[in-house]
Amino acid sequence: MKKRRLKKSVKKALYMGIISIILLILIVMGIIKRVNYLHSYKYKLSKIGYSDAEITEILKLDDKKIDILLDKAYNNLIIKFLKQKYFKFNYLDNYISYYKKSDNDDLAYTVSVINVKANNDYYDKNTIKKTDTSKNYLLLVNKYNYLDKNYKPNDLVNVKNYYSYGENQIRKEVYDNFLKMWTDAKAENLNLIITSAYRDYNYQNQLWTSYSAQKGSAWADSVAARAGYSEHQTGLALDIVTYGSTMDSFEKTNEFKWLNENSYKYGFILRYPKGKENLTGYSYESWHYRYVGKDVAKKIHDEGITYDEYYAYYIEK
Ligand code: DAL
Ligand code: ZN
Repeated sequence: MKKRRLKKSVKKALYMGIISIILLILIVMGIIKRVNYLHSYKYKLSKIGYSDAEITEILKLDDKKIDILLDKAYNNLIIKFLKQKYFKFNYLDNYISYYKKSDNDDLAYTVSVINVKANNDYYDKNTIKKTDTSKNYLLLVNKYNYLDKNYKPNDLVNVKNYYSYGENQIRKEVYDNFLKMWTDAKAENLNLIITSAYRDYNYQNQLWTSYSAQKGSAWADSVAARAGYSEHQTGLALDIVTYGSTMDSFEKTNEFKWLNENSYKYGFILRYPKGKENLTGYSYESWHYRYVGKDVAKKIHDEGITYDEYYAYYIEK
């Protein structure tokens, strides 16, 4: 009888012991969970003022970037910029300060301006960069990126007079693709004529100087590159016209219409489109085509961006 009572109380003690241990484990787990939460990005971001939805956006970034955001005060512009397609994290502060300064409230435009460095002055000695010439067909030459005086591609070929007004040269692969494009255009009774292609530094210098003498340097800058800053020096750019058209009237021709719809299939893009003057730095040029290769040309065509924007987002580190 005594033995059975003893057994019962041992059992009870055992149960109590097990329950206590379970409770203790639950309490410890609760504490660990709380401590982890207090150390989590979610908690830290919410302390700064971000909403749950904003935190979800931020948590898509890698830890290094989130750490940078944790050092900044809450700003709703951060999330707005984060959601922009061509957002580059390193430029976040530049986007925000440019946006606040400018009258324009277009976030996507702000991203493009900063990405292509169009917030800088043209030809500014402090901000210009040497073009990275290791990029073969994907080098960037504009008012912020320049070529050496002596830069000359080593695979230039002569354009046959049949396809050209005057003597012209372009890089071999560009010529091959131009000829395919020419043939397909011809099959539709359209005539593509090259009126200018590779231009060396000195020639570009003469061109700009003569424009400047005619109508002043501001006008010259809007229509022609200064020497060293012209894509024509890359051997990748072509000015195309047709019979009876000047460069200025080319826009009204069927050849232009056809190029607009088809040039990307051969690796060419319209380099200075209408409405993008602030980004390219040049007036609209319906005649100036730039070879970038088929894949890149298709992407630029599909996304409706300029080459400057493409380069900034997809090529530049
Ligand atoms: N017309 C183009 C911008 C050039 O001179 O290179
Ligand atoms: Zn041109």
